[in-house]
Amino acid sequence: VAGTLTLSARARASASSVIDDLFRLTRSRPDVVSFAAGAPDTSLLPVELLGDLTRAAVDRHGRVVLQYGDTQGFPPLREAVLPLLARRGLDCTVDDVHISTGGSGALNNLCMALLDEGDVVAVERPTYSPALRVFASYGARVVDVPGDADGLHPDALDACLARRPVRFLYAMPTFQNPTGRTMPAERRAAVAEVLDRHGTLLVEDDVYFDLRYRGEHLPALSALRPGRSVYLGSFSKLLAPALRTGYAVLPRPLLDGVLRLKQGIDMQTSSLTQALVAESLTGGRADRHLGVLRAVYQRKLGLLRDAVARHLPPSFTTNDPDGGMFLWLTAPAGVDLTVLLEAAVRGGVAYVPGSTFHADEAAAPRNTARLAFADVPEERIDEGARRLARVLGG
Ligand SMILES: Cc1ncc(COP(=O)(O)O)c(C=O)c1O
Repeated sequence: VAGTLTLSARARASASSVIDDLFRLTRSRPDVVSFAAGAPDTSLLPVELLGDLTRAAVDRHGRVVLQYGDTQGFPPLREAVLPLLARRGLDCTVDDVHISTGGSGALNNLCMALLDEGDVVAVERPTYSPALRVFASYGARVVDVPGDADGLHPDALDACLARRPVRFLYAMPTFQNPTGRTMPAERRAAVAEVLDRHGTLLVEDDVYFDLRYRGEHLPALSALRPGRSVYLGSFSKLLAPALRTGYAVLPRPLLDGVLRLKQGIDMQTSSLTQALVAESLTGGRADRHLGVLRAVYQRKLGLLRDAVARHLPPSFTTNDPDGGMFLWLTAPAGVDLTVLLEAAVRGGVAYVPGSTFHADEAAAPRNTARLAFADVPEERIDEGARRLARVLGG
């Protein structure tokens, strides 16, 4: 029996993630103020829209919404996504757009289509840790590129790409997970220039684009290099993660590879959820909902920044993101936020240590943490910061 149940080398090599473990733990401990989950505000998940959208989708499309559909995506949703993409400076047609099972599904299928064992993927330092797990599961080697408050550094990227062939750069230029930082326009141009010079594909993960609380939208980095970029988006933050609906814009040869593989993975993303999302976009309801999210998240971000400044010692600093769901906390160099997490949870507060977002966790700085604020009730934010201060030495 033991042999029968032996996992593949790929599954054996994958460790359980700190974030998954924290999610489970904090779900069973409602007393903990959790800044750990990068999830939308549960109280704002638009349940009241579901009935209306379902009715409208069925009235418009009939039983098609419960049928198998096109692997590339439900055509009315591919059409409805075009104005969203235009807002990002991406000029495409329905033929360029693919609807995926979440942004995660798009990233996984893309990696399956692109990566061979031993290929190298470049990422930002720090980066979104689930993406690291996807890259590792296809046997890729990851190299990370240092940056500053404006995102990854073009010279460091240049040096990285000069050293070895790199399959693609995976980057989140807007409200990055985990830091919340955004690449300004000049940095985007410099990064695009380096990528062009080395002929390197860009995979841009842009699931937080709409959650801007300050300043003007910046065109996507992909908009600077059409045909040599993959752009990934999602409706998880805009509407609901449970819809598991995301989208991707890919150059045709990559799209063809992804679609051939997707046939054997999940055949297609749910027609029903795609139809609901299409209804929400065409009827303007998604935009109205986004207005509410923006107002609430902006307030929460301000509350959290103020509460951290009020309760933690001045040697603990945060950045000042223009949007997204994350605030990046930096402690004095000797404070090990990875080790302190256990004490923090005992003290009634959770965060994700910054070290978990590094390609080489063992060599990562230990004095940073990601504070996710969207799903923390406003009235608990101050208490959460108080608890952080108690545990971390306030
Ligand atoms: C950077 C980034 N990419 C992708 C995802 C996954 O999104 P989805 O729910 O669409 O799979 C997330 C979710 O937190 C994310 O932060």
